[in-house]
Amino acid sequence: MIKVIYWSGTGNTKNMAEYIGQGIKEKGKEVDVLEISNATENDIVSAEILALGCPAMGCEELEDSEVIPFIEANEALMKDKKVVLFGSYGWGNGEWMETWKEQMESLGAKLVTDPLIVNEFTQGQDEEICLGYGRQIVG
Ligand SMILES: Cc1cc2nc3c(=O)[nH]c(=O)nc-3n(C[C@H](O)[C@H](O)[C@H](O)COP(=O)(O)O)c2cc1C
Repeated sequence: MIKVIYWSGTGNTKNMAEYIGQGIKEKGKEVDVLEISNATENDIVSAEILALGCPAMGCEELEDSEVIPFIEANEALMKDKKVVLFGSYGWGNGEWMETWKEQMESLGAKLVTDPLIVNEFTQGQDEEICLGYGRQIVG
């Protein structure tokens, strides 16, 4: 089971999560797409691959009321976990994702592939990019 766990304020990262999930399904893999507020420790433990999504917030930071606490609470479970990171951004250059990737690697997570970032969410363009990313994760 692949778990796609995300936080989204205005729906862009949610769109990414849903299309990534669809791409995974197209490859015949079971997938669970859920908001981070509904995710539990067991979702991480049972995930064959853990795909985490969060947009750029603060000043090139992760969302601080749900995402940062979730990662902090589950730091120990990230060791040797196969992880994929994705998220939407606005005006920045993707720095938040670079920082997040380094954080996850320092916790011992194994990044399956490079993170996926998209600017806001462009209808007619980003659906296909996210579907393709989902397929790519499965390999
Ligand atoms: C409070 C706040 C802070 C933000 N900070 C950044 C930022 O530092 N860098 C950036 O590129 N975009 C930033 N953005 C833009 C969001 O990342 C962008 O709108 C993204 O598409 C939101 O994704 P969501 O719809 O999943 O919430 C910020 C947006 C908000 C509301």
